Amino acid sequence: MTTASDGRLAGLIQKIDSREARIGIVGMGYVGLPLALLFSAQKFKVTGFDVVQSRVDTLNAGKSYIVRISPSEIQEAQKAGFRATTDYSNIAQMDAVIICVPTPLNMHHEPDLSFVTGTVQSLAPWLHEGQLIALESTTYPGTTEEVVVPLLEAGNPRGLKVSRSLSESGVHVAFSPEREDPGNTDVERHDIPKVVGGCGPAATQLATALYGTIFRRVVPVSSTAVAEMTKLLENIYRCVNIALVNELKQLCMRMGIDIHEVIDAAKTKPFGFQAFYPGPGLGGHCIPIDPFYLSWKARQFDFRTRFIDVAGEINTNMPYFVIEQIAAALNEQRKSIKGAKILVLGVAYKRDIDDLRESPSLTILELLREKGAAVAYNDPYFATVGHGRHYALNMTNTPLDNLGQYDAVVIVTDHSAYDFRAIVEQSQLVVDTRNATKGINSPKIVRC
Ligand SMILES: NC(=O)c1ccc[n+]([C@@H]2O[C@H](COP(=O)([O-])OP(=O)(O)OC[C@H]3O[C@@H](n4cnc5c(N)ncnc54)[C@H](O)[C@@H]3O)[C@@H](O)[C@H]2O)c1
Repeated sequence: MTTASDGRLAGLIQKIDSREARIGIVGMGYVGLPLALLFSAQKFKVTGFDVVQSRVDTLNAGKSYIVRISPSEIQEAQKAGFRATTDYSNIAQMDAVIICVPTPLNMHHEPDLSFVTGTVQSLAPWLHEGQLIALESTTYPGTTEEVVVPLLEAGNPRGLKVSRSLSESGVHVAFSPEREDPGNTDVERHDIPKVVGGCGPAATQLATALYGTIFRRVVPVSSTAVAEMTKLLENIYRCVNIALVNELKQLCMRMGIDIHEVIDAAKTKPFGFQAFYPGPGLGGHCIPIDPFYLSWKARQFDFRTRFIDVAGEINTNMPYFVIEQIAAALNEQRKSIKGAKILVLGVAYKRDIDDLRESPSLTILELLREKGAAVAYNDPYFATVGHGRHYALNMTNTPLDNLGQYDAVVIVTDHSAYDFRAIVEQSQLVVDTRNATKGINSPKIVRC
């Protein structure tokens, strides 16, 4: 026998298939905006929600505030009906709502879910029967069930409940982690398989149908907690392996072995090895932060996540290690950091992106300044840099010329716009934290 709820489920899947479903995306940032464009490209009418009026205005004017997204892409989406708003009452018209708001750490290195809870509280009054709500923000296992669901159920005036079975009516809730790799042009976004876990089978079915319109492969899992943990496993895997090579790099330097040559040789093994590369420290919104979401949650279960702790310790120390290497390189030239003119190349946390969240460059700039260096930076993606992690940096981009004036030029981000051979030729001393000068032979280069 077909129940009313079965019929509604089939109805929404039909709306998704025919592109009539209205999609709301909350948080028009690095994750939410590209997602809105993907759905728009599939001819869905998408509404982007954000709390920052200037972002909404920019998008509605057909412009972009993210370098790798061109205004023409926004305008193309507008033709399919895309618009942005700060008005949450529009949630009532949406068939599916996807939440892509930040999940940072607070001052005590604990999860700060205030953006998620704020969003859920704002949209709860506008929920309607049969709607799909999917959370994409990275978070600890249990967040969807323990935080999102209770707030949705408590906050909607019609007393709607979250559907737990195929025959039950209500609101459908799912978690689907974002897996974007900013700056990666090797893998098309729609080729990245999408993991989804619902609060019940209907939510999983709906989320699978929805994401199946923009991703070639959807991977349904048995619960929201499995989907949440999957994302953390992926990021912790990176964090731990990066820490491993960062530690081995330090040992290799003492032993006079080039870690990069070792990695290149090891990666010729056709199985059982994946290459990770050392660097000046972790950056970005994910790898330096997400593992601590799990270590915080683990404490609730009297469990210590030792790999995460050790990896965090090694990776956090890397900018300090870079400072030691700069000091040693200057020392060789009978100079000190105090009073030295130092140019840092790159403030973005990785190559060719306009994102400096948690960038190790910020710590390196702060530490150099603290030690009395006259610091400058160059980065084609940032005209200015305001705050570092602990201090106001308030710096402006320095042109990439007259490099001979600096006692040291430090490569922290290896943007492809840089001509490293020319940089080495023009500089007195180059400290390279990224192996960007590979293949260039010069006594001026110190690799660390
Ligand atoms: N950036 C990435 O590469 C990446 C990759 C994978 C996962 N993630 C995860 O995705 C989530 C979003 O990250 P991001 O990089 O897009 O963040 P972001 O800071 O670029 O964007 C977040 C947007 O949400 C908006 N916002 C904040 N509170 C809001 C609210 N209550 N209502 C509506 N809008 C609100 C902000 O104004 C901002 O525009 C995070 O959990 C992050 O860990 C990010």
